[in-house]
Amino acid sequence: MTATNETQTNRHLLPQTVKPKLYKLQLEPELEFSEQNGAQDKKDLKFQGKADIEVEIISPTNCVTLHALDLEIVQATVEIDKSRFVKAESVRCDNEQQTASVVFPETLSPSQHIIIHFEYTGILNDQMVGFYRSSYKGPHGETRYMATTQFEPTDARRAFPCWDEPAIKSAFEITLIVPPDRDCLSNMDPVSQHINESGKKVVQFQKTPIMSTYLLAFIIGEFDYIEDKTKQGVHVRVYTLKGSSELGRFALQVAVKTLSFFAEFFDIAYPLPKMDLVAIPDFAAGAMENWGCVTFRETALLIDPANSSTVARSRVAEVVAHELAHQWFGNLVTMEWWTHLWLNEGFATWAADLAVDHLFPSWGTWLQFVSSTFSAALRLDSLESSHPIEVEVKKAGDVNEIFDAISYCKGASVIRMLANYLSLESFQKGLQVYLKKFSYKNAATDDLWNVLEEVSGKPVFSMMSLWTRQTGYPVVQCSYEQSGRWILEQCRFLSSGYKQSNTSSGGEKSPLWIIPIGVVSSSQSREPHYFLLKESKEQVDSSLLGKEEEWLKLNANQSGVYRVNYPLSMWEKLRKPVRNGELSSTDRLGLSMDSFALCRAGMMPTTCALDMMASFENEKEYTCWVDLISNFESLHSVFGKTDSSRQLMDKFFCYIMRNIAQQLGWRSASEDEEHSVRLLRPKVLRALVDFKDANTISTAKQLFEQYIHDKSSVAADLRGVVMAAAVSEGGRKEFDQVLHMFETAALNEEKVRCLQTLGCTPQVSLMKEALEWGWQHVRYQDFIYLVSSIGSNPKGVEVVWEYMKEHWSELYERYGKGNFMLTSFIRACTAQMTSFSEADQVEAFFQSKQVEGCERTIRQCVERIRVSAKWFERDEKATMEWLQHYVKEHSC
Ligand code: BES
Ligand code: ZN
Repeated sequence: MTATNETQTNRHLLPQTVKPKLYKLQLEPELEFSEQNGAQDKKDLKFQGKADIEVEIISPTNCVTLHALDLEIVQATVEIDKSRFVKAESVRCDNEQQTASVVFPETLSPSQHIIIHFEYTGILNDQMVGFYRSSYKGPHGETRYMATTQFEPTDARRAFPCWDEPAIKSAFEITLIVPPDRDCLSNMDPVSQHINESGKKVVQFQKTPIMSTYLLAFIIGEFDYIEDKTKQGVHVRVYTLKGSSELGRFALQVAVKTLSFFAEFFDIAYPLPKMDLVAIPDFAAGAMENWGCVTFRETALLIDPANSSTVARSRVAEVVAHELAHQWFGNLVTMEWWTHLWLNEGFATWAADLAVDHLFPSWGTWLQFVSSTFSAALRLDSLESSHPIEVEVKKAGDVNEIFDAISYCKGASVIRMLANYLSLESFQKGLQVYLKKFSYKNAATDDLWNVLEEVSGKPVFSMMSLWTRQTGYPVVQCSYEQSGRWILEQCRFLSSGYKQSNTSSGGEKSPLWIIPIGVVSSSQSREPHYFLLKESKEQVDSSLLGKEEEWLKLNANQSGVYRVNYPLSMWEKLRKPVRNGELSSTDRLGLSMDSFALCRAGMMPTTCALDMMASFENEKEYTCWVDLISNFESLHSVFGKTDSSRQLMDKFFCYIMRNIAQQLGWRSASEDEEHSVRLLRPKVLRALVDFKDANTISTAKQLFEQYIHDKSSVAADLRGVVMAAAVSEGGRKEFDQVLHMFETAALNEEKVRCLQTLGCTPQVSLMKEALEWGWQHVRYQDFIYLVSSIGSNPKGVEVVWEYMKEHWSELYERYGKGNFMLTSFIRACTAQMTSFSEADQVEAFFQSKQVEGCERTIRQCVERIRVSAKWFERDEKATMEWLQHYVKEHSC
């Protein structure tokens, strides 16, 4: 891939006069606070670094500019033709650009053999970016530190001076200098090890293949591991803190099978000799795909059969598969620039489900894809403040914010749509060709489309560019014409309901998409019928869509990235096949999702969506309940402004859930109960607690009493429910009991469970206390769980917002570097806001604050609040009347 001059300036790319070929890096971190380094304030540990970078001079220059951030460069020297050393004249650091420019007294030319030597120091920070420290307890309860890395997207420059752009690939040789009792891990296996004159252990690793800087990793700590081998002979290990390695068993099994699965699916062997999966106690994201040395949060890797929930198992399988997919999609073939981040993240998200579905066919993974990934994509992309999948990224600060539901979820959803359109076999063939063609290189979105077009013989480029370059997605409006024909119209779906039209004059024109339409109908309910909708408005013969008196459902299997609206009479007809299960689970789920989104946008009456909701009273499918319960929660937060309106809704919700609640009960019917039922039980019971079902609450409280005395008396899956009931219906006592559980829990998953329930307390004073306590005592990575549990408590909305206003600068200081964390705080603190005045307040507050890297998130949150406020104004009266009528008629 070549970058033109124009894109170069746009993107703040480094000058292309010099390119790295091989980095030899040597790093020596301090792992203890001592008198000298300021034990008093415990602020920062440091590391010593040496970087010997063999480069290619593309055009003659005496100035080398590369990335460096928070590094103190002590010395820079150039070695010319292995014979002469020339010291740099000056080293200028530019904090804004995050670069260092090194000027030499003579011009370096392409014919020379050039090695640049740097000696520098850096900061082993506690902000989970770059080369950073993570803490754990030693055998005597003392705090110890490990050193580890998180370089994606742009923090390798905090660890060594480098060309920190994904397209500038190079080989690396890492050497670590550490106390003799510590273990060292990196992308490759060690090649040599010795003790140096200061008694330190020096570990040198094999040279890596050609790769991007953001995928490099080095870790120094004290670990145990378990290991296995894939059938192709790759060594796979899971590393944990000492004494916990068995907790890696489940992940190890998943990793071994998944690595083989991908090698076969992509028809390319995993290229490194080993694959390490490492649990890091302090970790900003969920996991990071460093080539051959994947790092994880503990909750994304460790499973304790006695204390882990089914949700946790799903999550571990998902995350492991996702990171292993990156070993091909991302590591072997890398996006040319962050604009194409979705090629990494969208693909890994899709491919993870492909692998999980292969490993655990009974889990219903693709069905869950629709209620989680697909639905998150459609939710975010319905905002005017959304962005296209291929998004312009100019500076380092912009990159973090695009690790969002558009890159991940919309990316994965358009891939699923395309795979369905081309057939999985043809799609797979295309992927194999693409990966082989661009191995050890970089690619852009168009490169993928071109290969797929060639391999499949279908017009992939023209269709898919519309989906990746335009913001948003369409709603297909279908109506019946007297003449016996159906009319299909498309325009962008916006949750603000603002209607862009292609047909009427005036107003903004909606973009157009090429939409694969799949149809099931009463006469053809299993085998969908497919065609493409290309125009803004098309007539379709009834032989394709069925007759008017029949029901029909478009977007069969929810495989296309769009919503569908029908005439009200058709929505009515669709209630029956929902109720009796004639429609597949995915299609029922699709109708639930679309009807709710449409009423929120004002494109159909809320009462019609409530009618649809009521048709789910016999529903058994987990994913449908995920969607229904999330819709209940939205109704609650938008329309539940008074106690009486909330009680009215609670009655309706609990009534709709009565059948499923009864079938599930509190205990599993059998040992080998299905995965989705194990997920469903806590989901429904927790909703019944939140919506104040008296029976559920009283059982939960009894179980809590037992749980206090005997942990094993409550299954891991139900602990969250039981604790939530106790805290939300209790007072200081129960709050303290859960706090105590946090303090004594061994497994991080359990600590997180406690944080997620502390926020359920009805007492504002306890919420405030929890926040003060959490800021001090909870790992930085987990504080968000506490904030979001308070933020989702109707009584806590104001508390978290006041907290955010008061502490913004501290939050910014602690979380602003890996700022996708900061954006989740903003979302958590505004999630339940639903009035115009709250939207104004949020907007006004951030106007005067430092918000770099959060700008788009703030716009999205504000827009979402206004959508809710409008919805309330428009439909409050009719909604309450409908509910009153329903509750009376059914004596709920
Ligand atoms: N590449 C990301 C990790 C990452 C995220 C780096 C944000 C920098 C900023 C990794 O592959 C990833 O996507 N992790 C996910 C888990 C996945 C299962 C969705 C995560 O961290 O949540
Ligand atoms: Zn990823």
